[in-house]
Amino acid sequence: MLFDERPKEAKEDLYDREEELEQLRKLASKPLVLLTRMRRIGKTSVLKVFLKESGLPYAFFVRTSS
Ligand SMILES: Nc1ncnc2c1ncn2[C@@H]1O[C@H](COP(=O)(O)OP(=O)(O)OP(=O)(O)O)[C@@H](O)[C@H]1O
Ligand SMILES: [Mg+2]
Repeated sequence: MLFDERPKEAKEDLYDREEELEQLRKLASKPLVLLTRMRRIGKTSVLKVFLKESGLPYAFFVRTSS
């Protein structure tokens, strides 16, 4: 769904982030990779789509404010 407030998880829903996905593929073997940019730009979406596409085992933790 295109207009969803949550991060995208499906590649077909993620718009214009091929370059970023390719960068993550190249960096996947590094011990630490930081995704940093302004709020709501799509960092979590790119990460989630990458992880799903990669087939790598992963655990995803989200800190919620309370
Ligand atoms: N490339 C994109 N294609 C489609 N939707 C996008 C894209 N980038 C961001 N969005 C949408 O914008 C919103 C913010 O995306 P996301 O949560 O991934 O950003 P974020 O950078 O991780 O935000 P935050 O800084 O709050 O953690 C969500 O609704 C997400 O679905
Ligand atoms: Mg995020």
